[in-house]
Amino acid sequence: MQNKTFSIAVLGAGNIGSSVLTRLKELDHNVLNLELKRVLVNDTSKDRGVSKDLLTDNFDDILNDDSIDLVIEVLGGVDPGKEYIKSLLQKGKAVITANKDIIADCGQELITLAEENNTCLYFEAAVAAGIPVLKPLIESLRGEELTKVLGIINGTSNYILTSMEEGSTYEDALSTAQELGYAEPDPTNDVEGVDAKYKAMILSLLCFGVSPESDAVFTEGISNITKEDFDWASRLDKTIKLVAQIDSNENGFNARVHPVLIDKKHPLAAIRGALNAVVAEGENIDQLVFSGPGAGANPTASAIMGDVLSACHQLNSDQSNWYPLREYKGENKSFEDVESSMFIRLSVNDEPGVLAKIAGTFGENNVSIESVIQEGRGDKAELVLVTHEAPEKDLSNSINQISSLDAVTTVTSLLRVYV
Ligand SMILES: NC(=O)c1ccc[n+]([C@@H]2O[C@H](COP(=O)([O-])OP(=O)(O)OC[C@H]3O[C@@H](n4cnc5c(N)ncnc54)[C@H](OP(=O)(O)O)[C@@H]3O)[C@@H](O)[C@H]2O)c1
Repeated sequence: MQNKTFSIAVLGAGNIGSSVLTRLKELDHNVLNLELKRVLVNDTSKDRGVSKDLLTDNFDDILNDDSIDLVIEVLGGVDPGKEYIKSLLQKGKAVITANKDIIADCGQELITLAEENNTCLYFEAAVAAGIPVLKPLIESLRGEELTKVLGIINGTSNYILTSMEEGSTYEDALSTAQELGYAEPDPTNDVEGVDAKYKAMILSLLCFGVSPESDAVFTEGISNITKEDFDWASRLDKTIKLVAQIDSNENGFNARVHPVLIDKKHPLAAIRGALNAVVAEGENIDQLVFSGPGAGANPTASAIMGDVLSACHQLNSDQSNWYPLREYKGENKSFEDVESSMFIRLSVNDEPGVLAKIAGTFGENNVSIESVIQEGRGDKAELVLVTHEAPEKDLSNSINQISSLDAVTTVTSLLRVYV
C-alpha cells in the first residue's frame, strides 16, 4: 500500500475540515501517500492553510475529476451533503463522512450504493467522534450476537448533567456549556436528545441490522431535570445520565433515548463532562466499554484519518464495503411495550388515605411498587415512589390517573431507572 499515492478531496474546511487538512499535511508517508487535490468551501478568498489553487466553491470540480479516489465530507447539515455523497459514490469514489444526520437519514441506502459501485463509505466520526467504536462493532464483533448497546453519545448533555451533579442549576450549566463552546447557541438538538437519537439510529443499523424510523425511537431530553432530582439520585446511590439504549432479544428490538437514574457502580455513571461512552453487551463478550472524547475537532479528525487509512486499504485490495451488515430477523417492539422501572416524585396533600389511593391506582394497572418514601408535612408533603419494571403503557396510564387525583398537587418528576 505504501507505494501507491491516493488523491483526496475535502468538502468543507470549517471546525473539523481545518483539523483534517492539518492532519493530512502531517501524515507519515511511510504509512500512506496522499495527495490533496481539492478543498470545497463557500468562501474561496479565506486562508485555509493550503494553496489557494486547491480551493473551489464548485462541487463539480471534485465530482468530475477522475483522478480523485477519495472524498472527505465535513460540510455539516443534510443538504447539499447528502446528494454530494450519492453522486460521489455513483462515480465510484470512496467517501468518508462525519455527518450523523445524513447517515441516520439514509445510511443503509448509501452503504448499498457504495457496494453497488464497488467503492466504500466510512463514517466512524458520526458516532462518538473520537472514540473508534464503529469499527470494533462492525468488524471485531461481527461474529457476536449483541443483545444490548447503550451509551452516552451526546457530550453537551453529559457536560450539563455532570455540572448539575456537582451543584449547578440546569440554566447555569447550559450557559457555561455555551461559553465553553460545548453547546450551540440553539442547544435544542443536544438537550432534547435529538442528536443522540440520530447516533442511536446509526448504532441500530450497524449493531442489529435495523434502520428504525426517526419517529419510532422514543426520545426525551434533559431540560426538565432539576437539582432536586440529583439530590434524590444521590440518596439512592445513583446519578442521572442521558442514555441511548438499544435492546435486541427474544422480546424484540427497541431503540430509545431518555434520561435514566443509573447506579453509581455502572460504567456509564463514571463518564463525566463532555466525554462519551458506548457499552456493548452479548453472551460471549459480557460487557465491553468504549469511552473517550465524543466531540472536538482533533478527536473527530483522528477518527476521520482512521477511516482514510481503511478506505485506502480497501481501494487497494479492490474489496467492497466492510462485512455484510447484520440482518435482523426478529420483531420490532414499540416503546409502549418496553418494560421500565419508574422513579416518581409527587407533591401531595398530607391527608389520610393518599398513599392507599396512589398504590391502588398502580395496582389497577398491574404496576407494583418497589419502594415509597414520604417526606414533609402539610402542603409541603412529598411522596417518592420507585416501581418495579412494568410496560411503559401501564406506567403512563397509572401516572395519568394519579395526576388527576384530588390529593395529588403535582407530578414533580418522572425518571426511568436503569436496571
Ligand atoms: N464538532 C464536532 O465535534 C463534530 C464531531 C463529530 C462530527 N461532526 C460533524 O462534522 C461536520 C462538520 O462540522 P463543522 O463543525 O466542521 O462545520 P463548520 O465549521 O460549519 O464547517 C462547514 C464547512 O463547510 C463549508 N460548506 C458548508 N456548506 C457548503 C456548501 N454548500 N458549499 C461549499 N462549502 C460549504 C463551509 O465553508 P465556509 O468556511 O466557506 O463557510 C465550512 O468550511 C458536521 O456534519 C458535524 O456534525 C462534528
